[in-house]
Amino acid sequence: MTNINEIATQMVTPGKGILAADESSGTIKKRFDSINVESTEENRMNYRRILFETQEAMQNYISGVILFDETLRQSNKDGKKLVDIINDAGSLPGIKVDMGAKELALMSGETVTEGLDGLRERLEEYSNLGAKFAKWRAVIAISDKIPSTLCIDANSHALARYSALCQEAGIVPIVEPEVLMDGSHTIERCYEVTKDTLTKVFEELTKHKVDLKGICLKPNMIIDGKECSKKSSSEEIAKMTINCFKETVPSEVPGIVFLSGGQSEIEATENLNEINKIEGTPWNLSFSYGRALQASALKAWQGNHENEEACSKAFAHRAKMNSLATKGVWSKEQEN
Ligand code: 13P
Repeated sequence: MTNINEIATQMVTPGKGILAADESSGTIKKRFDSINVESTEENRMNYRRILFETQEAMQNYISGVILFDETLRQSNKDGKKLVDIINDAGSLPGIKVDMGAKELALMSGETVTEGLDGLRERLEEYSNLGAKFAKWRAVIAISDKIPSTLCIDANSHALARYSALCQEAGIVPIVEPEVLMDGSHTIERCYEVTKDTLTKVFEELTKHKVDLKGICLKPNMIIDGKECSKKSSSEEIAKMTINCFKETVPSEVPGIVFLSGGQSEIEATENLNEINKIEGTPWNLSFSYGRALQASALKAWQGNHENEEACSKAFAHRAKMNSLATKGVWSKEQEN
């Protein structure tokens, strides 16, 4: 039986990264609305199985796929389970287990992620359905007044309890504390908030006896708020991101896989590439992108059977570009 350390290491195989295809029902509807496709169970299955059946991407560049509950139970029209399509390509299926970020009572504008009640039983079921890893996303928003220490504490505590339950079940937890890009804050403020958050997260993980060699960290990059008047270069983003992690992330953690968080496809690739040009870091630094791996593919698909190949090609291209970025050898010219 493979143990959690081996699974975590496999998730960050050099040159590979994770496809986040775990959009909740609400989020996938938003994505489908953007291409005027109705979000039916069949359409969701069809779109996602096109991605998972893309052999070039899945065999070479994608170490694991994060799924939503519905997808973990779905089969394609020939009756083959989507989980088996992923396994057959040599990639690992994973499952989003949080129940979403809910308003933190009495704390205006802040959220805490829910889903701990009954999680032990759900993890057992997910493990039986083939999930090798899980994901829990905590959300930290920035404004002049937030985040509060309470918000960081509550979310870090929940992440640690989730991680411990995962490891008990033999499942690798993806620990995702996302400091949002929304707002006009500076890159320095993002650094400060991410540093406070990661410090607290690792304090709680340690307190809850989580084996750091059996987790995968999924953080934001250190980046300017979307409405910030300054736009930092990818070199600055890379330098500050690595500096922040050196201050907060223990070297036992095998890998760090970034979320894209609203960056464009090219920005997310370019920033990851710069990050990987920096030498001497103890972790594998890769991607776990949702939008930044799927935006072009979704646009190419348009819900139309005839566009399947174009959708698949667009996904394979982004997967390849991001794979190059994990080695720091991507360049803009390779986009053409
Ligand atoms: P994005 O890359 O679109 O931010 O999604 C990653 C993810 O899984 C967020 O939880």
